[in-house]
Amino acid sequence: MIGKTFANAALLAAVVLTATLASAQAMPAVLTIYADKPVSAVSPTLYGLMTEEINYSYDGGLYAEMVRNRTFHGSWDGIQSWYLVEDGNAAAKIAPDKQNGPSEALKNSMRLDVQKADPANQAGLLNVGYWGMALQPNTTYKGSFYAKAGSADIGPVTISLMGNDSGKVVATTAVSGVTTDWSQYNFTLTTGAIEPSAANHLVMTVGHPGTLWMDLVSLFPPTYHNRTNGNRIDLMQRLAAMHPAFLRFPGGNYLEGDYIPDRFEWKKTIGPLVDRPTHPSPWMYHSSDGMGLLEFLEWCEDLKMRPLLAVYAGYSLKGDHVNPGADLEPYIQDALDEIEYVTGGPETKWGAERVKDGHADPFKLTYVEIGNEDWFDKSGSYDERYAQFYKAIKTRYPSLQLIATAPLKNMKPDVLDEHFYVRATQNFHDANHYDKTDRNGPKIFVGEWATREGTPTPNMGAALGDAAWMTGLERNSDIVVMASYAPLFVNVNPGGMQWESDLIGYDTLHSYGSPSYWAQVMFASYLGDHTLKSEVQGAGEKFFYSISKSTAKKQLYLKLVNAESTPLPVEIDLPGATLASTAKLVSLSALDTQATNSINNPEFIVPVDSTISGVSSHFSRTLPAYSIQIIQIDEQ
Ligand code: AHR
Repeated sequence: MIGKTFANAALLAAVVLTATLASAQAMPAVLTIYADKPVSAVSPTLYGLMTEEINYSYDGGLYAEMVRNRTFHGSWDGIQSWYLVEDGNAAAKIAPDKQNGPSEALKNSMRLDVQKADPANQAGLLNVGYWGMALQPNTTYKGSFYAKAGSADIGPVTISLMGNDSGKVVATTAVSGVTTDWSQYNFTLTTGAIEPSAANHLVMTVGHPGTLWMDLVSLFPPTYHNRTNGNRIDLMQRLAAMHPAFLRFPGGNYLEGDYIPDRFEWKKTIGPLVDRPTHPSPWMYHSSDGMGLLEFLEWCEDLKMRPLLAVYAGYSLKGDHVNPGADLEPYIQDALDEIEYVTGGPETKWGAERVKDGHADPFKLTYVEIGNEDWFDKSGSYDERYAQFYKAIKTRYPSLQLIATAPLKNMKPDVLDEHFYVRATQNFHDANHYDKTDRNGPKIFVGEWATREGTPTPNMGAALGDAAWMTGLERNSDIVVMASYAPLFVNVNPGGMQWESDLIGYDTLHSYGSPSYWAQVMFASYLGDHTLKSEVQGAGEKFFYSISKSTAKKQLYLKLVNAESTPLPVEIDLPGATLASTAKLVSLSALDTQATNSINNPEFIVPVDSTISGVSSHFSRTLPAYSIQIIQIDEQ
């Protein structure tokens, strides 16, 4: 009896619920858009990129170097990523040599002592790469190394790429003539008709007893725009699809370092690789500094982005700070030199240095950021440090816009950098964050933000939070001049991640965009130059939208976000507008907030393009549950 009553009550509840849902669906929201009533300008630089060396973003990521620990840094258990090779009855040993290196910057090297070897029984060393080495069929890889022999009769160095599983040589070559002085040697390795695979390693051996010192062993695949010392093609293509307007670099915490000597010292990251000493990074691995200041700038050039240069401002992560005043002067001079390296002509000291490094033309620079997250500086020195940098930089470069990384008590900065790492719910509640911001205050740069749900990369729930947040950024883009999601990259191999929820994931061979990545691509690809007056009635708490218009293209972009678990019917009114009767629809949706993409299922959630018909000054749409949709309509 009790069971039956319960069953009846449950049936009744279900009927009521169904009726409620049906009535909710029968009452569509009404979105009214006034196509001839502009509200505010949308910043042309709204969407950009923020990067730093975290999660193997550069080394083992974008920076295409295949040899890990190419300069033989030691750790407690030996030289990371390098191992001894003794083929057949060959006998040898390897050890770090701290007294012998090819340059002032690289004072140590790897010493190989071969007691017994012949051409059929070789000895040497191997490198395992960043979780392997990705090889493609019929492809040429360019390599180089520095070496010095104890005696010239050491003979040729054989260099091979070997399959981890097959033990077979995939590509091989030999370098002869190694002398008793340090020199650089170049080589190429070309694969045949192989299957693409990351399960490969690099082997360097000799077939004669003797001693050989080696350093800076490097191997590159073809790179984006064929740059020497360049970037991984697939990752650059993913970034290009985001249409980024700027690149904020080099951090983030990576700019500051844990301690002052560990900061990003830009002067040690330029010029030939052999002159770069490398440095420890705060994200628990050593940086090769192959991605140096000029490489950042060339990355900007390749993707037509403006550099947003962050300069070290006298505060490091574990709390050390430099006192404002005389102590800070050398750091300010360093920042001035850095700006000159980026923007100076050949007649300037540091501009000439850039020309010498291979880039004749100066780069255009608008924004310089003074430090990173200086609200952590408990000494309270940031106000004074910012003011001192401001005075010196503005005196030399009056047109540069200087970004503060913490609110200031004593002056108004040109721009204020604000960071938000939140859950989706917070973004749903805070999508109107900048609606009431004082327009007389500093411009805003949302230099780091993300909805952090999903690991290693964000899921659909996070993408919905992101999309809600971005509608608010677009609506307030008269004051929010720039915004960049962070972190951008994660190497998903074991041990690759230091920070969860990163926009783009990859291993050695493949990469994929998270649902949040696709939300970014969609939002940046369909953006007008101004927002339009609009209002909505009858939508629930989790409906968000942004309406912008491109004057040049005569196009309207309706961004509609339904973060509810049920579809949302919407009546769209455009009073007085004359529109094409068909429109482009781009849709990203999933059946659950936890749905996601991964390295093994990279395209589970991707935007789908289609055409919708029946568009007019009054038309209806039903937004699927958990969806982000963009409707691009041509005005006539
Ligand atoms: O994006 C990861 C880290 O978060 C950045 O390095 C730092 O600026 C912030 O705290």
